[in-house]
Amino acid sequence: MYKVLKKCGRAKRAEFHTPHGVIQTPVFMNVGTAGAIKGAVSTEDLEQLKCQVELSNTYHLHLRPGDKLIKEMGGLHKFMVWDKPILTDSGGFQVFSLGLLRKIKEEGVYFSSHIDGRKIFMGPEESMQIQSNLGSTIAMAFDECIGLPAERPYVEASVARTTRWLERCKKEMHRLNQLEDTVNPKQMLFGINQGATFEDIRIEHAKRISEMELDGYAIGGLAVGESHAEMYRILDEVVPYLPEEKPTYLMGVGTPENILEAVERGVDFFDCVLPARNGRHAHVYTNKGKLNLLNAKYEKDDSPIDDTCGCPACRRYSRAYIRHLFKAKEMLAMRLCVMHNLYFFNSMMEEIRQAIEEDRFHAYKAAKLDGFRENGK
Ligand code: GUN
Ligand code: ZN
Repeated sequence: MYKVLKKCGRAKRAEFHTPHGVIQTPVFMNVGTAGAIKGAVSTEDLEQLKCQVELSNTYHLHLRPGDKLIKEMGGLHKFMVWDKPILTDSGGFQVFSLGLLRKIKEEGVYFSSHIDGRKIFMGPEESMQIQSNLGSTIAMAFDECIGLPAERPYVEASVARTTRWLERCKKEMHRLNQLEDTVNPKQMLFGINQGATFEDIRIEHAKRISEMELDGYAIGGLAVGESHAEMYRILDEVVPYLPEEKPTYLMGVGTPENILEAVERGVDFFDCVLPARNGRHAHVYTNKGKLNLLNAKYEKDDSPIDDTCGCPACRRYSRAYIRHLFKAKEMLAMRLCVMHNLYFFNSMMEEIRQAIEEDRFHAYKAAKLDGFRENGK
């Protein structure tokens, strides 16, 4: 059940009730591709970092350790020891983003494993079966994420196929949820809007999937090389055609700036590898912009990464110490920076929720963006 509690312009503050608890939105989902956040961050840590939803990938877990093994272990929640919501992405995007050799057919996608080159087939039914074995809270529909630039005839054919795949996903998920030994009989399904940068194709597709009574709607195929302005334009065009009384999820986005702009346009679910990836490279977010802790100017800097931050790294350690850990190639360096970055994103979402509740999102956003530009001033 999804309930909009408050609106501020088009920005939505909502609650999404799931079998694994209530998600307060807008929310940032923390990415643990293969069942772990990269940077040695545990599910116990995630609880401290204000994480509400963990996101894992169908493709990675299918290859290793295998979704059947995870089902045997009682499902992904039990395996990872995480009882809050988990969203699983469907696999189609990973096949695309890993640059794997692939062949897309009506029945699904043929590709080779990035681990051992083994030939694999995944279609809508297979993706749903794997996600059902994992028992995630929210399963994503199997789609094709179209690379940019894309020609109109290709996009038309691809989106039509993604719609047919969505129908097959819905049917298969319904069947799987009723099986006696299913891990999560209340597994939910989100559809994914595609259409590259073509406004009319995106809108037609959004209307079409909105009629399918899914649990939520995602916008895919963005942050794949288009400009930020183009991404915001597409959100302006498409979000009004997705049901307001359902969650809206912008997949794979993004920077704090992108998130603020998308919230303003009515999006309320996000995920991105950026905080964990940047943290592993000593790039940390602060309210005054991003810092690179490897920079010599932090060698004797006694202050925390961000003096307004309450994360486990900032509560205790200095920039100088964390910089030293990177130089000494200590694993703790990455761990502290990833924890800080996730806490930063999750805290920003908390601030966003409060600002919408108090009817001051626009002013909050302007002040936050202004702060991010401070270091460059
Ligand atoms: N993650 C980021 N973009 C996409 C997309 O278009 N489809 C899927 N399934 N996952 C994504
Ligand atoms: Zn911090």
